[in-house]
Amino acid sequence: MDWGMQNRISQIIKPKTGRTVMLAVDHGYFLGPTTRLEDPKKTIEPLIDYADALMPTRGGLRNCVDAKTSTPIVLRVSGGNSIISEELSREGITTSVEEALRLNVAAMAMSIYVGSKYEHQTLMNLADLCDKAQRYGMPVVAVTAVGKDMVRDARYLSLCCRIAAEMGAMIVKTYHTDGFDKVVEGCPVPLVVAGGKKMETELDVFEVVSSAIQDGAVGVDMGRNIWQNDHPVAMIKAVRAVVHEDYTPKEALDLYKAQEKEDGNN
Ligand code: R5P
Repeated sequence: MDWGMQNRISQIIKPKTGRTVMLAVDHGYFLGPTTRLEDPKKTIEPLIDYADALMPTRGGLRNCVDAKTSTPIVLRVSGGNSIISEELSREGITTSVEEALRLNVAAMAMSIYVGSKYEHQTLMNLADLCDKAQRYGMPVVAVTAVGKDMVRDARYLSLCCRIAAEMGAMIVKTYHTDGFDKVVEGCPVPLVVAGGKKMETELDVFEVVSSAIQDGAVGVDMGRNIWQNDHPVAMIKAVRAVVHEDYTPKEALDLYKAQEKEDGNN
């Protein structure tokens, strides 16, 4: 692998543990001002130092993230629809590789929608972006987006993740599911898991993260289950402990509770 590509990936997946906690804050690109991300700057500020990488859009980055940060950026570069559109899968590439280089990011991220109406378009977007990004040693993170009525089982996610890797993605972001070890087995590049909608309890979150790690994921790219929590700093610290230190879900919960007291309202 080229030095630049390797160096960028190492900024995201920490060489010491081979794992990563990415903080996703890109939701506004189709959801608008999502709950607890209404003012991204306020949400991001207390959390950014605990994230191994931050995933915003270019507008989110320029307007809401301090340029002096040392946290690597994984830039969301696909979009073109909204939560009220008829067809969420109709995405295009919204940000060029040149702009990503100007913003000094560590990777570019985009969604593919396997099995949806615009499957072909999104897969060609990925192939094209990988071609362009490769020229500059820029890794592409493929996000396997799932349509509203689609089943997120291991068979389907294996299909999505493998296709993403075959198209040239260097990291794939997907969802955790039963039989996730099979998804990992079929995907030759590192996998990170999204959190999805806020889960009922903190323990549920730690269980998903722990299972994903045990099954072979290299980490998480999580948003709502961190910053929609009443104690987001405690939450990200506990998620880090599961990802980087193999804390059990119960140990992570104890850490969360201890941090919750220490950190007050953060
Ligand atoms: C979709 O809105 C984005 O790609 C998010 O970055 C992704 O879904 C991860 O965030 P969450 O953990 O909130 O699902």
